[in-house]
Amino acid sequence: MISERLKFIASLIPPAKTLADVGCDHGLLIIEAFEKYGLEYAVAIDNKEQPLKSAHENIKKHPFFPKVRFSLSDGLADLKEGEAEAIVIAGIGGILMTEILKKGLERHRKAKFILQANRNLFELRKFLYDARMEIASEKIIFEDGQYYEIIVSRAARKPLNYTEEDLIFGPVLRRERHPLFIRKLEEELKRYQEIGYENVREKIERIKEQLYENQNDR
Ligand SMILES: C[S@@+](CC[C@H](N)C(=O)[O-])C[C@H]1O[C@@H](n2cnc3c(N)ncnc32)[C@H](O)[C@@H]1O
Repeated sequence: MISERLKFIASLIPPAKTLADVGCDHGLLIIEAFEKYGLEYAVAIDNKEQPLKSAHENIKKHPFFPKVRFSLSDGLADLKEGEAEAIVIAGIGGILMTEILKKGLERHRKAKFILQANRNLFELRKFLYDARMEIASEKIIFEDGQYYEIIVSRAARKPLNYTEEDLIFGPVLRRERHPLFIRKLEEELKRYQEIGYENVREKIERIKEQLYENQNDR
């Protein structure tokens, strides 16, 4: 069954009608996008045989099967320029995601990237910033005891100037202050305060600042 996380990611694909799902695994995101969001074409990409086979099995049961190209390949290497208006990379770590983008971003700068990294969000945001990719929107959801942050990124049309705090917490998340974002920070703060060691002091101060200070600047 498809997770709320993947359902939410699928809802961010429109108005794009063509999609590449990098690390598609079971293929459920592609199915959701065809069924609910009028997708017209998809490339299902995975670098391992078994997951791609499972995507093939699942998608084969649907009428849109002929509109899906299955690719056993690494990251964006086999995706043709202009083949997908939206590119989703979800459910992997931020470092691996950054490696995938480093190798393949240039050819796909016109695409809308929907990125959900499980960890190392700072490294991912920093890479996007250095690559002149704007963080156009950021969403946060909570499922099965986990917070997931989703970044929608596009090539920047004007110079970007993200601060270190933006890269740590997310430029849009810290501006919009969604209740889930605040809850996540409060929980992190409590965890760090319980640890109480000197080496988390800086983290504690940074989180406090997000939560309680600088609010007049917004
Ligand atoms: C944890 S699953 C996530 C599946 C789905 N995207 C989701 O969010 O639920 C990660 C998938 O990415 C694939 N993967 C890992 N590295 C990859 C790469 N460099 N290129 C393509 N697929 C990759 C794995 O084989 C696996 O199927």
